Amino acid sequence: MIVLGIETSCDETSAAIVKDGREILSNVVHTQAEHKPYGGVVPEIASRCHIMLLPGIVEQAVKESGISWEDIDVIAGTRGPGLASSLLVGWSTAKGLAMRLNKPLVAINHIEAHIHSVFLNPSAPDPHEAVPMLGLAVSGGHSNIFNIPEYGKIETIGRTIDDAAGEALDKAAKLLGLGYPGGPIIDKIAKTVTPGKIHFPEGRVREETETGGLRNDLCMSFSGLKTSLLTYVTKNPPQGESEIAQIAADYQEAIVSAIVKRCELVIRGKKYMAVGGGVSLNSRLRSALQEMCDKHDVQLLLALPKHCGDNAAMIAGLAGMGRGIPSPESFDLDIAPFWPVD
Ligand code: KG4
Ligand code: ZN
Repeated sequence: MIVLGIETSCDETSAAIVKDGREILSNVVHTQAEHKPYGGVVPEIASRCHIMLLPGIVEQAVKESGISWEDIDVIAGTRGPGLASSLLVGWSTAKGLAMRLNKPLVAINHIEAHIHSVFLNPSAPDPHEAVPMLGLAVSGGHSNIFNIPEYGKIETIGRTIDDAAGEALDKAAKLLGLGYPGGPIIDKIAKTVTPGKIHFPEGRVREETETGGLRNDLCMSFSGLKTSLLTYVTKNPPQGESEIAQIAADYQEAIVSAIVKRCELVIRGKKYMAVGGGVSLNSRLRSALQEMCDKHDVQLLLALPKHCGDNAAMIAGLAGMGRGIPSPESFDLDIAPFWPVD
């Protein structure tokens, strides 16, 4: 099955052609640089960029794949979650193309697609054999832990109750005057020092906090961490690069530790752990997860670096695995900015 996938949930404009869920024939990803001066994604600018860029990117994806428009079996688009004005561009384009080409349309959940991104690596096992699996999606917009007892069944068991991990890193970098996006910069400078000098809270969620039926000890809170960073730098203004690096490293450590500790609570009995999303590029998170999985004899599946961030190959790939049923009703579906995975 050949799927054309379209992804515009945030600030990446992307289109891809994927065969049978895993074989990438093309994957064109454009990351919008227009947001840099603002230190974060500006929704209106993002959607305007998507409108201007997406037609050319879809054409480029088809051209680079070597197939013709007639060879496409299914059109898949990200329906949510994400920024409403950004989702609208990609999902409407997917609908329009499916109508024009008379092809089935599939609505794909962006977060579930981040988990599928690990299977875009040709050396990953068959997704149906990689269960029971623990899933972790960590990016600028989401931090979720999933139980995946069998392929196609995905249940949220933990999540952040406020900021996402990437958002917490980006906000910290802004506060420290390091630039945007902050995650990669913090990752880089944190390597120049040894963490463990400054204590930052680890984002525990109190028993009485409402978490929508999820176990509180599997949920995370990163907004308090940001406040404690602000308090720390106000009291101890950093002098020079190495002090900034120390703060960044300990702040990163608090986030990594919060994520890994929660995953460890539910890793037992799993065969695999799949990790996707922009923050899964973080070298400290990667090594800490590897160590934890080795300890419990679980095989860690990380997305290839080029598939960690938002991309349409993961959307086309997930649709090619038979997730999301193509049906005429898909054309009646609106975007779903808060669409839960389950
Ligand atoms: O998945 P993604 O491209 O977009 C969203 O769906 O949000 O993730 C972007 C996020 C940003 O917050 C960025 O700072 C973070 O991923 N990021 C990293 C690293 N590279 C990107 N965070 C930590 N370490 C990195 N190396
Ligand atoms: Zn994403």
